[in-house]
Amino acid sequence: MGRSLTRKIIESHYVSGSMVPGEEVFIKVDQTLTHDINAVMTYLAFEAIGIDRIRTECSVSYLDHNLLYVDFKTPDDHIYLQSAAKKFGVHVSRPGNGICHTVHVARFGAPGKISMGGDSHTPHGGSIGMLCIGVGGMDVATAMTGVPMRLKMPRVINVHLTGELKPGVNAKEVILEMLRRVTIKGGLGNVYEYTGPGAAKLEVPQRATITNMGAELGATTSIFPADKQVHKFLKAQGREEAYRELLPDEDAEYDDRIEINLSELEPLVSCPHQPDNVIPLKDVERKPVQQVFIGSCTNTSYADVAKAALVFKGHHVNENVSCTCGIASKQTYKELLRDGYISMLLDAGVRMLEISCGPCCAIGQTPPTEGIAVRTSNRNFKGRAGNPNAKIYLVSPESAAATAIKGTFASAEEIMGDEITKLAEIHEPEVYEADDSMIIKPLEPEEAQKVEIVRGPNIKFLPVPDEPQQYLKVPVSLKGGDNISTDDITPASAEFSSMRSNIPLMSQYCYHRYAPDFAAHAKELGKSIIIGGENYGQGSSREHAAINPMYLGVKCVIAKSIARIHKGNLVNHGIIPMLFADPADYDKIDQDDELEIENLLDQIPTRTVTVTDTTKGFSFQVNLDLSDNEVEVVLCGGQLRYLKKQLAEMDADK
Ligand code: F3S
Repeated sequence: MGRSLTRKIIESHYVSGSMVPGEEVFIKVDQTLTHDINAVMTYLAFEAIGIDRIRTECSVSYLDHNLLYVDFKTPDDHIYLQSAAKKFGVHVSRPGNGICHTVHVARFGAPGKISMGGDSHTPHGGSIGMLCIGVGGMDVATAMTGVPMRLKMPRVINVHLTGELKPGVNAKEVILEMLRRVTIKGGLGNVYEYTGPGAAKLEVPQRATITNMGAELGATTSIFPADKQVHKFLKAQGREEAYRELLPDEDAEYDDRIEINLSELEPLVSCPHQPDNVIPLKDVERKPVQQVFIGSCTNTSYADVAKAALVFKGHHVNENVSCTCGIASKQTYKELLRDGYISMLLDAGVRMLEISCGPCCAIGQTPPTEGIAVRTSNRNFKGRAGNPNAKIYLVSPESAAATAIKGTFASAEEIMGDEITKLAEIHEPEVYEADDSMIIKPLEPEEAQKVEIVRGPNIKFLPVPDEPQQYLKVPVSLKGGDNISTDDITPASAEFSSMRSNIPLMSQYCYHRYAPDFAAHAKELGKSIIIGGENYGQGSSREHAAINPMYLGVKCVIAKSIARIHKGNLVNHGIIPMLFADPADYDKIDQDDELEIENLLDQIPTRTVTVTDTTKGFSFQVNLDLSDNEVEVVLCGGQLRYLKKQLAEMDADK
């Protein structure tokens, strides 16, 4: 049988391990990316590792998420990140250049490469036939050292697309349909590889909407072939030399197959408070909408925004709606400006925002009390927009524009009628204006050595966890439900995001919106265990959702299931991720119960640990879904200690 595209790329980067799905494989990583609200910890870790220059082909530090300088903290972070990048040989994409994933695909990505990014939507790059994996910041620091990276060999699922999207139906509908079918945890351990005549018709930014939001499936990543569409895109970017055709074999073997006929898709909407709560847009209750946001890396390509602008043509934003638009890159913004679409948006009363993530991660445009916000971004968790009593609905840019006009949910067809066919005429530009003047290139090594890293007063140390002990007897500091997201654990907003360089401060807000007393309670207990339900730690890759609890003394998380990136972050930061062997035991444990584990260090390598609830007087078993390498990291007390040991051994062998 032939090979899938995913398998071909992993084979070409193989270093060691097993390529059997579910087993551990070590691969060489070509590129990394970081962004400002997670990256300070990554570069502090890289400093602590003690290497003087990155050992990847290309690493880029994007300053793109939090551009609202509400106080000194974020500008200090940006200056730190810029100086650290200069010192270590990293490119910097300056504030205003664009959102990391959009810029990376356009200016750095190349088919066949492997990239790891400190952001869960790194799979965006799968749109050009790259294998792009979202990981925690410590993993990015590790990848920058050039050591082979561990990966659980994925199952590869073929998503075979036929037909063609109708006007008014966006690539967003493809990924919403996937979410409806697969659910937010159904993709765990999978790569979704899109093929077929329908896939061949999708332009690269349409593919990016699908691979980007594939993160919401819990998948390792998603990927499209590097075909004529990718050639056209890279040529339009003036980067034809980066192109090489890369396709799955015609008889490629897959672990499963999903069929979607694009012609049958209708406008869809993801309802609060999970991305997989998807229904047809026509079936959603027509409640008044207070905010519409057309923005984020997911859905603001040239064609996306131009189509939204055409829906607005001759109409105005409803007087009860605040409609904002945040375009993902300076390049796209200029193309839209040139072709008159920005004017059309302004004429319709749309408020143009800065080129940044902004509202997508709760930096501005918080919805009103009990408000309804309709967004083109990728997450609708409770509180994601900064107000836990608001409701977020996710739609395409065409549907968002129609909703802004009507003041309640509407499709583009309801606004445009027969004119909707005009949307089919809009495509990506044949040539993009390539201007890399907002990218700072790395210095030569001799010059880089002279650079002083600049640290503002908010930039504190990177906490290093203790090594685990044989005996643990600690209370349960929190019992959470299903689908706790990293937003629940570490809230986002302009204010909170600027605290992420200061763990002693940020940890005071751990679980702030979900369980406001948690931080004080955990600190008072000294050491504790968290109990979680299904899909614990879903959502953003932010490793602060592991670092903050670790700093507050959390030693283990015992849950029914744990999301992939978060599990890696827990391992890296010295919290042992454990899974109930019998999920029914979850119901027997209450907050503040005391849990006892004997011979923990001996039990960890067996992957089965016996825990006794001494308050209730019963014992239960937990499983550790850890690879051999992860077991070593756990026993070392986290990735930083492990990596230093590994690098010292490598140096001793030279
Ligand atoms: Fe930024 Fe939201 Fe994308 S936070 S990277 S626009 S998912």
